[in-house]
Amino acid sequence: MPGYAVVGIQWGDEAKGKVVDYLADRVECVARFQGGNNAGHTVVAHGKEYVFHLLPSGIVHPDVSCIIGNGTVVDPRVLLDEMDKLAGHKIDYEGRLWLSDCAHIIMPYHRTLDGADEDGRRQWRIGTTGRGIGPVYSDKVSRSGIRAGDLIDESLFREKLVEFLPLKNRLLIELFGESDPISFDRVCDEYIEYGRRLRPYICDTVVKINSLLDEGKSVMFEGAQGALLDVDHGTYPFVTASTTVAGGICGGLGIGPSRIDKVIGVVKAYTTRVGQGPFPTELGGRIGQHLLEKGYEYGRTTGRARRCGWFDAIAIRRGVMVNGTTSLALSKLDVLSGIETIKLCTSYNYRGQPVDQFPSNPDALGECEPIYETMPGWSEPISNCRSFDDLPGTAQAYIRRVEELAGCPVSILSIGPARNDTILMNDPLA
Ligand code: IMO
Ligand code: MG
Repeated sequence: MPGYAVVGIQWGDEAKGKVVDYLADRVECVARFQGGNNAGHTVVAHGKEYVFHLLPSGIVHPDVSCIIGNGTVVDPRVLLDEMDKLAGHKIDYEGRLWLSDCAHIIMPYHRTLDGADEDGRRQWRIGTTGRGIGPVYSDKVSRSGIRAGDLIDESLFREKLVEFLPLKNRLLIELFGESDPISFDRVCDEYIEYGRRLRPYICDTVVKINSLLDEGKSVMFEGAQGALLDVDHGTYPFVTASTTVAGGICGGLGIGPSRIDKVIGVVKAYTTRVGQGPFPTELGGRIGQHLLEKGYEYGRTTGRARRCGWFDAIAIRRGVMVNGTTSLALSKLDVLSGIETIKLCTSYNYRGQPVDQFPSNPDALGECEPIYETMPGWSEPISNCRSFDDLPGTAQAYIRRVEELAGCPVSILSIGPARNDTILMNDPLA
């Protein structure tokens, strides 16, 4: 009955997709439990690069079933597009892809409201992905959402749209100053067609996933975003709208906490962030440029350049703590090759006082200045290394220091984008 979580420990983009793909041949099922197509998960396999926004990263493994759980939010147009692309790659997903009937559906007004809300903000602009994530989760908790199960019941879908669309149009026109209302007929026809296409995949995934676990099959829970973007535990309000930490798996898939056996926290060897919000170790200049270019730190969802900075042990410890992390997957270590002196932030200076806990208040975090320790770097490329012993001594020392500072062992080391560019230090599932 083992359940394994793979979650982000930073502000997203930690290479969760790669880690899930690397481990997926050891599980029967990979399930997404939160988020939507704000995520961009990259898998490099069979010499090809796949970027998934909604499909679980296990989908490239032909024997792995994939679940998009009730806690996710789904833009059906994006999901269908990803399914079509898979078919183009000759990856067959029939009979092994399932979408929860309780997953909330992103409607056109959610996308418009996301943009309008951002445009109306000043100091508290978030820099969202513009995919409608905040508005769809708002509707979920205010009980005016439309779920995947509604999409396949034409008359119910119509009834809900008749009720909710005029309210949204009023909001858009009277409050946000949009010029034209969203057309009922257009949305209705479009979404009923999506429902027709998605019908074979929509089911009660709660029963499916619990049955698998009851049968002793193993399931991997694939997180999106990261701990510091969690709606409760992140740098609020500069966060996403869902529970991204491992605790969210239970609600987002309908399983009990005793089903989660291991929590693998994915951490980049440095830090990146997209969008607004405090980021103490952010770098400009030559090193920032090195990380951006060598790490190819451009968003897979929006194409935005990511903000880059040094490893922040204070932030990592918070992420490790709130996830109950059992081991780390340390990614993109290869990107640090060629940096003479590497810095790690070990504490903050807040108004003249040393701080070694991540402040829960983002204003305080914004005032924190990082205090660094330095370590010698390494000049050689490391992507061909196949064991810890093959790595330069300075890289080994960096990994050991990361483990000490994070208070968590590293089980997986990623030294390049491809599946093979991975060193197994310890078995994270054992
Ligand atoms: P993956 O799964 C990085 C960020 C956005 C923005 C904030 C809120 O690839 O790690 P939203 O559209 O969710 O309302 O935006 O969260 N964000 C991500 N940053 N990776 C992601 O996902 C992200 N998903 C959302 O940039 O700052
Ligand atoms: Mg991303």
